[in-house]
Amino acid sequence: MSDTKAKLALGGESYEFDVHSGTLGPDVIDISSLYASTGAFTYDPGFTSTASCESDITFIDGEKGVLLHRGYPIDQLAEKGSFLETCYLLLYGELPNKSQMDDFEHRVTHHTMVHEQMNRFFTGFRRDAHPMAIMCGVIGAMSAFYHDSTDISDPRQRMIASLRMIAKMPTIAAMAYKYHVGQPFVYPKNDLSYSANFLRMCFAVPCEEYAVNPVLARAMDRIFILHADHEQNASTSTVRLAGSSGANPFACIAAGIACLWGPAHGGANEAALNMLSEIGSVDQIPEYIDRAKDKNDPFRLMGFGHRVYKNYDPRAKIMQKTCHEVLGELGITDDPLLDVAMELEKIALTDEYFVEKKLYPNIDFYSGITLKALGFPTTMFTVLFALARTVGWIAQWKEMIEDPRQKIGRPRQLYTGAPQRDYVPMDKR
Ligand code: SDX
Repeated sequence: MSDTKAKLALGGESYEFDVHSGTLGPDVIDISSLYASTGAFTYDPGFTSTASCESDITFIDGEKGVLLHRGYPIDQLAEKGSFLETCYLLLYGELPNKSQMDDFEHRVTHHTMVHEQMNRFFTGFRRDAHPMAIMCGVIGAMSAFYHDSTDISDPRQRMIASLRMIAKMPTIAAMAYKYHVGQPFVYPKNDLSYSANFLRMCFAVPCEEYAVNPVLARAMDRIFILHADHEQNASTSTVRLAGSSGANPFACIAAGIACLWGPAHGGANEAALNMLSEIGSVDQIPEYIDRAKDKNDPFRLMGFGHRVYKNYDPRAKIMQKTCHEVLGELGITDDPLLDVAMELEKIALTDEYFVEKKLYPNIDFYSGITLKALGFPTTMFTVLFALARTVGWIAQWKEMIEDPRQKIGRPRQLYTGAPQRDYVPMDKR
């Protein structure tokens, strides 16, 4: 129930709207009756000041650089937990006890195989197709296979579809990679952990045994935790909007993957590594800093800036630490890209342009160097982001579907086009 009101004066009239307070973060002004009361819309391109929903899942404090999942700080989950444990937390709202964790892990593990006929989808793509293009196609096609879990009104089918998505994403992502590099698909192994299984499906080959490095598997698992969910970002909002029409969960996740691909969003990890490679050496950095500040130059420092974080992205700090761990484990002591990244960060964090605009490294700044060291090509970076974010998309989709107030999302517009006019015959134009 609202305890305060917001007043609006418009066209000589005065209006009042309820103000709601959450557990944490800014209050919201409930304007759902604004158009009916005033005949006017709000106008907020990019939704910089708009709360699209009520949610219990993730909280971000952009000023303080805080990220909580169901109240637990991301650094504690990343340091002390596992990705599947974070999946359980995001889906069910509480950390699992031992028996709940064992049951969840068993259910996910025993859904990791895909229908054998799905292999044929891949042969329709060119070998040099971008793996994200393959992911958009194959995940969307899952609704053509799993008819028994597309009735979103059935809670049991919703949970089966959720488990299938979380369980099969690593298998499909690994298949997209194997197809891209021309190697045979590798089946999942049920005696491996979620992240170890993924690394093996990506890097094992039939002609020799593949032993997963536990340090790298732990690093992969932590990277998945860091990417799991992030409030109402562009791709999550896409999944929610697609789901609001009643579309099946596989189609909604495919829509989220398509949105994540953009370089301003999840595609930034690939773009950030390409940027570091383009800069090439520390002495080239000033030129690129100048370009990033030049209004007439479309160049931006990829992996820098964030719509919400106006402080250091807490995930970026953990990613930087993981980057050093992975490079150390692999004996990579002189990665020129890391030298460029560290120097670029140091310069940018003291440059008045970046300081004034509160532009800090985000999660994508160090992830590329880490993923490259793990053996992934840059074209796979956003696929890994999508793999991890699937649980966040699913948790947010599930929350929306189960909200009794949920209705189809249908924004309006400010129309600035031609007024009504009559058709002009061709010979009169
Ligand atoms: C992700 O939303 C999420 O939560 C996303 C994400 C998640 O987990 O889901 O965190 C994942 O997408 C991280 C962001 C990855 N993107 C990049 O690293 C691409 C580079 N960053 C920018 O494109 C930009 O910072 C955005 C898109 C991330 C945020 O853009 P906003 O909020 O719309 O901010 P803006 O573009 O209005 O920028 C504000 C100002 C502008 O200058 P002015 O017009 O005010 O003079 O800062 C400048 C921008 O020109 N600016 C940059 C910059 N980012 C913003 N200048 C140089 N380099 C940059 N990277």
